[in-house]
Amino acid sequence: MTHDNENLDPENPQQEAHEEGPVDRLIKTLWRSPLGVLGVAITTISITLMLIGTAVDLLGLMDNPYAALVIYTVLPVGMLFGLALIPVAVFLRRWRWRKTGIDTDHLQINLSNPKHRIGLIAFISLSAVNVAILIVIGYEAYHFTDSSYFCGKVCHTVMEPEYVAYQRSAHSRVACVACHIGPGAQWYVQAKFSGLRQVKAVLQDSYSRPIPAPVHELRPARDTCEQCHWPDKFHGKKIKRFVSFTNDDQQNPDINEIALHIGGHNPETNDFEGIHWHVSREVEVSYLAVDEKRTQLAKVKVKRPNGTVDEFVKSDIEIPEGEELHWRVMDCIDCHNRPTHVYQMPEERVDFGLLSKKINPDIAGIREDSLTVIMKEYESRELAEESIISDLLYLQKQRDPEQAEQYREDIIKAGQFLTEAYRGNIWPAMGIKWGTYMEHLGHQYADEGYGCWRCHDEEHENKSGETISQDCGICHDEP
Ligand code: HEC
Ligand code: HEC
Ligand code: HEC
Ligand code: HEC
Ligand code: HEC
Repeated sequence: MTHDNENLDPENPQQEAHEEGPVDRLIKTLWRSPLGVLGVAITTISITLMLIGTAVDLLGLMDNPYAALVIYTVLPVGMLFGLALIPVAVFLRRWRWRKTGIDTDHLQINLSNPKHRIGLIAFISLSAVNVAILIVIGYEAYHFTDSSYFCGKVCHTVMEPEYVAYQRSAHSRVACVACHIGPGAQWYVQAKFSGLRQVKAVLQDSYSRPIPAPVHELRPARDTCEQCHWPDKFHGKKIKRFVSFTNDDQQNPDINEIALHIGGHNPETNDFEGIHWHVSREVEVSYLAVDEKRTQLAKVKVKRPNGTVDEFVKSDIEIPEGEELHWRVMDCIDCHNRPTHVYQMPEERVDFGLLSKKINPDIAGIREDSLTVIMKEYESRELAEESIISDLLYLQKQRDPEQAEQYREDIIKAGQFLTEAYRGNIWPAMGIKWGTYMEHLGHQYADEGYGCWRCHDEEHENKSGETISQDCGICHDEP
């Protein structure tokens, strides 16, 4: 089909130079319009920059999320756009083709023509190179947009608090996507779409400050946390030590040591026991919360391993009428709501400072003054950084000018520690203050409605008048 020798009519000048057949002209001239040249230029520039950028990134020489964003999203789109321009240019130029009167019947690729062969080989290999480049870049782009670095850094102002808190947690080596997306293509796609909505909210400056917690559309823990932790794992007891000071005694800490009955599946008795009983396979605890924050629980339902169902009701919580309220099955997040975005409390930081002697406990009144300066509401982080040390010096001078002079160096050191504590927890621009995000893991903040005592309050009653126990001994004892 390609060997059409009868077409080689020596009388016909157009066919005499048989290299100049229609295909040659197609290759040679048709795309050479300004648009076609632009397409080739864009493609070439995009590919070159992409290859250089990827090499620099893979060598670890790049520390800028925006540069990576350009390499893995803007440039590949540029490359595809440039490639698409070439056929468009050809299409727009086809009138010239018709004008020269070339018969499209002769538009044949002739493999015995070396130029055609080279052209075809060049076309196939260039396409293969392009496809290979796109696959490599696509793979890198997939990893990049799934990296904690991307999640935490690209949208810097919005994500900085979560990223900072994450970096000091036990999960700082677990990718954001392991908890926020989890396995499976459906959730991946859903997450990218919700990501686009979030980009829109950021561009329109319409996102909430602070970002509300709990996150209601979080993927169930069964699909995320349980990829790495499983409730059947027996943890036994865990001893925890709590150290605190008071304003009256900065030298001798109160020490509470407790042995938490974390429990799990006990391999000896084959029973589920202790704190992780709530998430064992045979048990289902669910609750009806009347507020967004899930702190007011009107009803609690338990399905026990023997199949019986029990319901505990707290009669003084009113269930708002006509409102859609959902029962929620308790999972890891109902206790571990801060597994990685761990915000600290001011007393916790100041007491740690005293314990580690970063705040010198010999300075009278330093605990009280430290709490005053870090709990003050500064308008911005910059203002706090400028003020904390001088505010502390000022308070100490008010208290005792002689002492302030004597301990000046130590007060400045304490101020630096407090500035760090502030910087690690407070973001006025995002509406994050002390206690914006609190933890459910114990009962230190039971007064604010957080922790185990949301249910274990001796006020949720079942039909026979039994309550969910607050007996200290079920949860922990002395080690
Ligand atoms: C170990 C699991 C885990 C990892 C890893 C993780 N998160 Fe989270 N994240 C959570 C949970 C659980 C919540 C929901 C907290 C709640 O509902 O109270 C959350 C909440 C959030 C919120 C809402 C605000 C808040 O603090 O509640 C943002 C924003 C967020 N995560 C961003 C990130 C980013 C960015 C990363 C990576 C740098 C990341 N997360 C890594 C588990 C995780
Ligand atoms: C990709 C694996 C992975 C995922 C997903 C994951 N974790 Fe972890 N988690 C770990 C590792 C690893 C550690 C141990 C870190 C260490 O010992 O320093 C850990 C530690 C913990 C601890 C002990 C923390 C501490 O401060 O001592 C808790 C609690 C925990 N994870 C809960 C969760 C919860 C809740 C989720 C889901 C929101 C979750 N994890 C998701 C890997 C994971
Ligand atoms: C009823 C509340 C509750 C639920 C639900 C819960 N946990 Fe825990 N978990 C705790 C408490 C309390 C501790 C110990 C607190 C601490 O270490 O500060 C703990 C400790 C842990 C630890 C650390 C164990 C160790 O030895 O250090 C891991 C890991 C963990 N939980 C994972 C999970 C996972 C995964 C789920 C969901 C399947 C889950 N937990 C559900 C309350 C709960
Ligand atoms: C949503 C409600 C709810 C929350 C929140 C809750 N629990 Fe429970 N818990 C229950 C119910 C219901 C029972 C079963 C009561 C019964 O059997 O009478 C229970 C039972 C227990 C038991 C006994 C389990 C056994 O071995 O039989 C322990 C221990 C326990 N909870 C610890 C905790 C701890 C620690 C926390 C906080 C980190 C917590 N619970 C938070 C509802 C809750
Ligand atoms: C439903 C379970 C539960 C019950 C009931 C319970 N606790 Fe706790 N308690 C916890 C957990 C969980 C922690 C650990 C919190 C953490 O890891 O931050 C804790 C921590 C503590 C601490 C150390 C925290 C601190 O601020 O010093 C003390 C003290 C304490 N409990 C005392 C008690 C006393 C007293 C009772 C009985 C009236 C009691 N608890 C009942 C679950 C419980």
